[in-house]
Amino acid sequence: MNQEYAKLIIGDKTIELPVLNGTEGGKAVDISRLYEEHGLTTFDSSLANTAFCKSTITYIDGDEGILRYHGIPIEQFDRPKPNFVEVAYLLIFGKLPTTNELADFRTRLTDNELLHEGIRRQFNDLPPKSPPMAILSAMLSQLACYHEKFLPLGDDELFVEAVARLVSKARTIAAYSYRRSQGLPFTYPDPNMRYCANFLHMMFSIPHLQYTVSEAVEDALNLVLILHADHEQNCSTATVRVVGSARANLFASCAAGVSALWGPLHGGANVEVMRMLEGIHVGGMTPEDCLEAAKDKANPFRLYGFGHRVYKNYDPRAKILRAACDRVFAALKTPDPLLDIARKLEEIALADPYFIDRKLYPNVDFYSGILLRAMGIPTNMFTVVFALGRLPGWISQWKEQHDDAGQRIIRPRQLYTGNNLTHYVPIEDRE
Ligand code: ACO
Repeated sequence: MNQEYAKLIIGDKTIELPVLNGTEGGKAVDISRLYEEHGLTTFDSSLANTAFCKSTITYIDGDEGILRYHGIPIEQFDRPKPNFVEVAYLLIFGKLPTTNELADFRTRLTDNELLHEGIRRQFNDLPPKSPPMAILSAMLSQLACYHEKFLPLGDDELFVEAVARLVSKARTIAAYSYRRSQGLPFTYPDPNMRYCANFLHMMFSIPHLQYTVSEAVEDALNLVLILHADHEQNCSTATVRVVGSARANLFASCAAGVSALWGPLHGGANVEVMRMLEGIHVGGMTPEDCLEAAKDKANPFRLYGFGHRVYKNYDPRAKILRAACDRVFAALKTPDPLLDIARKLEEIALADPYFIDRKLYPNVDFYSGILLRAMGIPTNMFTVVFALGRLPGWISQWKEQHDDAGQRIIRPRQLYTGNNLTHYVPIEDRE
């Protein structure tokens, strides 16, 4: 195919810029040599229009509401007995595992589920009400202290082992962060349990009472983790890539991803959704008040769980979670009034011109919290569960970048709008 060019006319100069085509989706104008060859930069606040890497992992069509992992539509993972470990393998290693590969990966996860005693002891020195996301980020970063041989990842075997440590220990750390926040003793992982069941066991079993993991709850957690597993260049994944581009190790890069995810405009939105729904439930405000507050530009409040930088249609993950709520509540026989409130809010928002004009639809966070609550997961653990789900995505994106020989350190430019040359004034001469 002939190379296509875009023309940039600036003053009396015409610059030809190559146009790149992805496998699917839009075209991208390649400006990567613009500064070097013409001394020009582009301005794209918040990188809303900038493809900052090439990636083969996840495809999104925000207008059509499409999400695929390595080409597989997200809806195909919503089936009886979804399997998060299989999806993690797909994302990280680029293919669905064979039976043997999956068994080998599971064994590696099991072999790595315990924490070094040094890390475990550190939980005791944390204040009891420490936010679990702070603990997760700090402890993931500290894995570098205990597993130094993985800092430069020389070969594939080292990478697989590092992945197993990270994915498995993150689950143990996540569960322990909850136990610490409750002042409960730690429950060791059970090597005979699957990934999600084991997490629930570490969260909820107590020495004299083994938690019984119901099939409905295990399946729902599996589904939630799968739906969060990757989402191309979102804020936390981009963070992981930025940190990793400096050749920072995998543990440090993923710890940075956790910090980004914590923000209420990103993964922390599921906590805000629950606050909002609970506020309505206890009678603080009506769904209509909520909508009015979200539309008021003088009010920083937003309709949490609504809107998305990429989706200008219903987020396909939200659609799956919405339907999963019905299944899970029917299986658990415990209706939740917050689900009815969420549905009402959705109904009136989708009929409101403000939301219609701006193409604001429910995103993944709108229904995930209700489902997690049904599983008995406390609100302060919602974003931690999101992080466990997103970890395979971060790892896969980090590795893709690590293996790209052409990748340079990510270092954006800016449009300087500060003072012109100004001189230092000694303190005694200042007004
Ligand atoms: N409630 C009210 N108004 C909203 C909302 C919302 N949830 N989302 C966007 N808008 C409005 C904005 O005020 C803006 O209005 P304007 O054009 O009159 O100024 C317009 O819609 C465009 O919104 P932006 O903030 O420019 O969109 P952006 O792409 O920067 O932000 C974001 C996307 C952060 C997700 C935003 O929609 C939001 O804050 N949503 C609520 C928080 C949330 O649910 N975050 C989770 C996202 S999914 C995830 O990260 C896992």
